[in-house]
Amino acid sequence: MLITRKAEFSASHFCRAVSLSDDENQALFGEEAHPGGHGHNFVVEVSVEGEPDPITGMIVDLKDLKDILERVIVGPMDHRFLNYEVEPFGKVVPTTANIALEIWRRLEKQFHSARFRLARVRLFETPDLYVDVVQPAQI
Ligand code: NI
Repeated sequence: MLITRKAEFSASHFCRAVSLSDDENQALFGEEAHPGGHGHNFVVEVSVEGEPDPITGMIVDLKDLKDILERVIVGPMDHRFLNYEVEPFGKVVPTTANIALEIWRRLEKQFHSARFRLARVRLFETPDLYVDVVQPAQI
């Protein structure tokens, strides 16, 4: 079973690869490359996989999950300029894919239970574009 909690944050970014020239960045990222940055209302959906606890009926404590999202994602990223204020985006291009991966990495450290695990991070940059980070199948 999967349970999903959604959170939102507004952040600014621009996308430039430091190893590429200005012209190359412009050709690759277009408007996204402008160093003045621009904002997005990011929506993140975090899915946890597990089975309901036989006593509580809960896969994961939903208040804990909400608190974790607030502490490791919304708090540090909301109303921030990602390139300048949030690591590792001083060096890593804050594309939707890289932001989703960073969110996954931050959350993964918070999930230590044997009963459930982080299963998917879905990050919407716009309502019609999202990236999924998923846990590889267990072997
Ligand atoms: Ni953008």
